[in-house]
Amino acid sequence: MKILITGNMGYLGTVLAKHLRATMRGARLYGYDSGFFAHCLTTKDRLPESVYAAQYFGDVRDFPAPLLDGVDAVVHLAAISNDPIGNKFEKVTADINHDATIALARAAIDHGVKSFVFTSSCSLYGAAADGARKESDALNPLTAYARSKAACERDLRALNGKGMRITALRLATACGMSGRLRLDLVLNDFVASAMTEGTIKILSDGTPWRPLIDTQDIARAIEWGLTRDRVAGDDFMAVNIGAQACNYQVHALAESVARAIPGVKIDINTKAAPDKRSYQVDFGLFRNLAPRHQPQIDLDRSIAALRDGIASSGIHQNRMDGAMLIRLKTLESHIDAGRLSADLRWT
Ligand SMILES: NC(=O)c1ccc[n+]([C@@H]2O[C@H](COP(=O)([O-])OP(=O)(O)OC[C@H]3O[C@@H](n4cnc5c(N)ncnc54)[C@H](O)[C@@H]3O)[C@@H](O)[C@H]2O)c1
Repeated sequence: MKILITGNMGYLGTVLAKHLRATMRGARLYGYDSGFFAHCLTTKDRLPESVYAAQYFGDVRDFPAPLLDGVDAVVHLAAISNDPIGNKFEKVTADINHDATIALARAAIDHGVKSFVFTSSCSLYGAAADGARKESDALNPLTAYARSKAACERDLRALNGKGMRITALRLATACGMSGRLRLDLVLNDFVASAMTEGTIKILSDGTPWRPLIDTQDIARAIEWGLTRDRVAGDDFMAVNIGAQACNYQVHALAESVARAIPGVKIDINTKAAPDKRSYQVDFGLFRNLAPRHQPQIDLDRSIAALRDGIASSGIHQNRMDGAMLIRLKTLESHIDAGRLSADLRWT
């Protein structure tokens, strides 16, 4: 099986490569990435891309269709990956996250690709504090990032019936260790702040709900998406990816981190305006469809892996290294140095 993974040199792709190498031994992996964060390594292990048959560098906005020759499956991770970047680069976010995704999916159909796994996000439920959201519930994307994912799902759904299985994985917020760690994700930020500053600062009043899932469990879910059966004759499917027990309020995440790293203070902003981005999610469909690919890493294990990984990579001792793990800051530093243009193309 030949698998092409776009955006493979980021936080999730780095964990996914190792997982697929171990679980789909016969698969040949090909990577395609602009390399924005290629240098942001947080591992002393071998280069993550060394498990690939080939690594291509390029922008998904200019994806060369011949790279799809002979490809059986695509995992499409390449994207502007959070709200702060989406807010600052709104048009670029729509171009990369939406337009390039749909063009890639169409090219994949033309090339006879059988399976297309798209990493969508539970953030498209937006504000949903009145009960856990199911796949059939209305979407309420509140940000440019979430809107780009919702638009992708709408247009990918329209490609139903063209012979390619499309799986939109609505991922819960990722957490946990990776060879390219991100510190702009809530749990990762809490662990790193606890280790560097001895304090966890909660910017909201701590009440918003957020479902969480470990990077390794996301890799397991992507493996399921690659190999799943068709359901009810539909080529397209959107599935919430996480576990029922993993809907947390933000203050509970901070308390769990404080238990694992003794002596840490929690600083809640009691005057903060309510954070609208609050949602609980129902993961029953995923549990029924993928009993052998369910999340296995609980919150305490994610925290322990982060604590040990951060300690061994030494990033807690150097503020500069920590800043390099905030995706927006890395892009801004590329732009400030003249390496990237304002529309996020290498100069
Ligand atoms: N981490 C999460 O909590 C989470 C949750 C839901 C969905 N997702 C989705 O999963 C995917 C991967 O997320 P991540 O956390 O690994 O993000 P990341 O920012 O660490 O990685 C994204 C990768 O995409 C690449 N990329 C970005 N723009 C590109 C372009 N124009 N051309 C080619 N490559 C490009 C980057 O270089 C990077 O390697 C994204 O689509 C993201 O939206 C992530």
